[in-house]
Amino acid sequence: MIDPDGSESQVTARYLAADGEAEAGLRPTSLDDFIGQPRVREQLTLVLRGAKLRGGTPDHILLSGPPGLGKTSMAMIVAAELGSALRVTSGPALERAGDLAAMLSNLVEGDVLFIDEIHRIARPAEEMLYLAMEDFRVDVVVGKGPGATSIPLEVAPFTLVGATTRSGALTGPLRDRFGFTAHMDFYEPEELQQILARSARILGVRIAPEASAEIAARSRGTPRIANRLLRRVRDYADVRADGTITPAIAQAALVVYDVDPLGLDRLDRAVLGALVRSFGGGPVGISTLAVAVGEEPATVEEVCEPFLVRAGMVARTPRGRVATAGAWEHLGLVPPVDLVIGGIEVRANEPQLGLFDS
Ligand SMILES: Nc1ncnc2c1ncn2[C@@H]1O[C@H](COP(=O)(O)OP(=O)(O)OP(=O)(O)O)[C@@H](O)[C@H]1O
Ligand SMILES: [Mg+2]
Repeated sequence: MIDPDGSESQVTARYLAADGEAEAGLRPTSLDDFIGQPRVREQLTLVLRGAKLRGGTPDHILLSGPPGLGKTSMAMIVAAELGSALRVTSGPALERAGDLAAMLSNLVEGDVLFIDEIHRIARPAEEMLYLAMEDFRVDVVVGKGPGATSIPLEVAPFTLVGATTRSGALTGPLRDRFGFTAHMDFYEPEELQQILARSARILGVRIAPEASAEIAARSRGTPRIANRLLRRVRDYADVRADGTITPAIAQAALVVYDVDPLGLDRLDRAVLGALVRSFGGGPVGISTLAVAVGEEPATVEEVCEPFLVRAGMVARTPRGRVATAGAWEHLGLVPPVDLVIGGIEVRANEPQLGLFDS
């Protein structure tokens, strides 16, 4: 039985409890150490160095992008590059305005305040944050009803770093108060290969470049997944071989962990298989497809579909999900000659993102 929240999968981009300390040890610690995201790195370098030259605090920074691409790592790097202390909290922890007021009043000039999952911050705290971000002060309301008074409180100049996987869920006023927004994109296989080489060095693992290419190709553009697969492959290399990761060892290990050459796991392949074999490639509705693989529709939609769409194997059309030629070929089948999706002929491996809204 496949775990309904997909947590048994080795290729989920979400943080798993088992990632724990292993991840912490592999985090890049400076902008120079950070591989990939060249545009974000260049822009941040300018923002941070500029502020340093002027002797002030940099603008507030918003980091947005899918899970596991380095937002938390980057927040830590911002503080390290500024030589400042990092104070960490998260949107869900800031339920009342008082929680935030306590956090803000403890800041020392130049501190970096990191709010993870900032889109989940409660409304009263968010409103207090506006004033703190703009004027470095907050109004603390004491008492209730007609006798309530508001006491202004100074906040030391600080830099807010917010991270979000859903920048669209941020309110306009909050988004507007960030001076700089960095959007993190999925990594290229070559970048993941460099990350793997670095991680292997830190872990003291010998890995052949072709083997890191093999792992990089299955990591879905996500450093967190690359590092996790490296740890799984290392286990295999230690137990079944002499510890050195060769391409053959990497391939054998990834078969054991059910991660195929494109980074699909068992459930992803089950969905593709049902779409192609049971429904002739679609179109088919998400709930029918979910029943066919014995899963909740939400699991198929939120856990599998985003990557299958991004990889160009499934397209969303107004009439349902359709397998692209790439999906047929990935399953070792010949796509039907007249494969047409929503009036558009679809070729293998052509991402259909954004073509259809459903
Ligand atoms: N550019 C990079 N170079 C090297 N390692 C990286 C890089 N980006 C991320 N990693 C690795 O991936 C792991 C996950 O990164 P991080 O925790 O920063 O992601 P995140 O974007 O904050 O994810 P989430 O949205 O789940 O909070 C890190 O522990 C680190 O080991
Ligand atoms: Mg994070």
